[in-house]
This record gives sequence, structure tokens and C-alpha cells, in this order.
Amino acid sequence: MTDLDAFITGLPKAELHLHIEGSLEPELMFALAKRNGVEIPYASVEEVRAAYAFTRLQDFLDIYYAGAMVLRTRQDFHDMAMAYFERAASDGVVHAELMFDPQTHTDRGIAFAEVIEGLLSAMAEAEAKHGLTSRLILSFLRHLSEEAAFETLAMAEPWLDRIAAVGLDSSELGHPPVKFAQVFAAARAKGLKLTAHAGEEGPPEYVYQALDLLKVDRIDHGNRALEDEGLTRRLAKLGMTLTVCPLSNLKLCVIDDIARHPIDAMLQGGLKATINSDDPAYFGGYIADNYRAVAAARGLSREDLVTLARNSFTGSFLPAEAIEGHLAAIEAFVAGHG
Ligand code: ADE
Ligand code: ZN
Repeated sequence: MTDLDAFITGLPKAELHLHIEGSLEPELMFALAKRNGVEIPYASVEEVRAAYAFTRLQDFLDIYYAGAMVLRTRQDFHDMAMAYFERAASDGVVHAELMFDPQTHTDRGIAFAEVIEGLLSAMAEAEAKHGLTSRLILSFLRHLSEEAAFETLAMAEPWLDRIAAVGLDSSELGHPPVKFAQVFAAARAKGLKLTAHAGEEGPPEYVYQALDLLKVDRIDHGNRALEDEGLTRRLAKLGMTLTVCPLSNLKLCVIDDIARHPIDAMLQGGLKATINSDDPAYFGGYIADNYRAVAAARGLSREDLVTLARNSFTGSFLPAEAIEGHLAAIEAFVAGHG
């Protein structure tokens, strides 16, 4: 391990943009298919990995939703989340905010309780075993209707005290944030935080809508905001957290080369960017791989890496005291790596 590798791994960090269904590795996919008697259209793990060649978001989503079909019981959701937490802990993640897509499961007859109870039990185990804290973000699928999102929010009612936020994901183009303005307002009225994917494939206009119509607390991705100088200035002035996902951007052709990733332009523009893995089983790396990829490709300094880690806590949905504690842990880590 190089010094920089050790620095990246050791740096205390939060992961704010992680789809738990996107952490399902092919090996576990096969094991769950066997356990549940579910057919999958691949003969081997290698064949699955070979299918992960995407030219746009929808190519990935088709495969990602098909992969999620092997998840049936709360034990499955527990095992998937625990596998993620083990990887995250070994990458120096001390806090994670997990998105989950209930509609992917409830629409094929899996009870909401099975999904969330499996995730919650893994979250408790990760905290007991690694001291790794976590929160849940219930994400609405934007290719479905706002009415369906309202039904999902109603299903979640008994667990609302264990859900930090709602999110908005899936096919961005053609499904602008405005489509979900009412359900986001309802979630806000219930005391939930709000985040939405915007500006991944969609234009800057979708980022404006996320800010002005959804009134989000965070923006997931946000890359295309950079096309609009006024919007970039506004995001910087607001201190709006962007949950950026470099290897995802590369795999989904949001950028054509990691060497042209705009992470340093974001930091120089005063944007509060963070580094995240999005769907690590599909995009070739967990959070430390994402830090390493941009550190190497864009020549990020240690100071930049520390800024990114600090942003991951100040942009989290943790209470102020917990954030202060994590920032102090970063200072202590840096002091020990002078
Ligand atoms: N669902 C899982 N990953 C996603 C992404 N990167 N964009 C939109 N929806 C998603
Ligand atoms: Zn995402």
C-alpha cells in the first residue's frame, strides 16, 4: 500500500450516495438466486461482470433492476447490507447513508417490512461490530408516478422514525423533479430530509427544479450544474452538498475519461462536493477506489482529500454534535499523518 493509499483508507469518511441494491456483488447474487430458487440469465459470475458495460444510465438500470430480483427475504436484505458494511468499514467509512428502492421490491410482491427490517438489522450489527453508524434514505423511482411515490411513503409510515430522508432516483431524462413536488412537500411535512438525483444525465434545469420545487437538502451527482455558471455560483453560496460518484460517472459515460473528471473544478468553484460509490458492485469500486481514482487522475492534494472527507460529514444528516466529533477525528488523523 502506498502512503497515499493508506492516507485515503485511514481518513475517516462518510458515504452519502450509495444504493444498497447497487452493492449486490455477482457472487452474492448467485448465492441468493440459489437460496431462493430464482432463475438468473447468466451462467457464471464472469458472465455477469461481462454484462456490466454501459453507455448510459438506462443500460445500467435495466441490469440493476433484474439483479435485484434475487432479493426476497429479510435475511437477503440483511446479508447484502452486511456485505456492504464490511467493505465500507475496511475503506475507513464510519458513517453511511443508504438509499434503498422499496418499489423495486414491493412491486413484485415483497413486503416493505421484509426490506426495511433486513436493512435495519444489518445497520444495528454494523454499529455494534464496527462502530459504523448509518441512516436510511427511502428513494422514489422517478420513472413511476407521483401517486405510486405517495403509496410508498404511506407504506413507510410505521418506520418513519428510522428513515432520515427521501430521495429520487432511476431514469432521469424525461422525469424532471417537478413531477414529484407534492410528495416531496409531504415528506418534508413529516420531518424527513430531502435529496434527489439531478444533473447526472439531466440538464441544469433539473437541478434548478430540485432546489426550487423540491427544496432539497442535498443534490445527488449534480455534474451538469457546471454547465451553468449562475447555478454553480448559487450552489456554492448555498453550501449545497453534491454527492459526486466518479467511477459511476465514468461507467455511465457522464464523463469520457476519469482524467477529465470535474471534481477539482467543483472544489475550486467553491462547491461542497463529496466522493461516493453510487452502485459499487456495478461500477468497479467502493468509496476508497473512488477517492484513489480521482486523486490519481486529477492530482488531488491531501488537503483536497481532507476537504472532501470533511464535506461528507458536514453534508450528512447527522446531528451537529456527531458531525463535530467526526471533524475532530479527521483533525486527529491528519495530525498523526503530518
Ligand atoms: N439508481 C441506482 N443508481 C442510480 C443512479 N446512478 N442514477 C439514477 N438512479 C439510480
Ligand atoms: Zn445514485
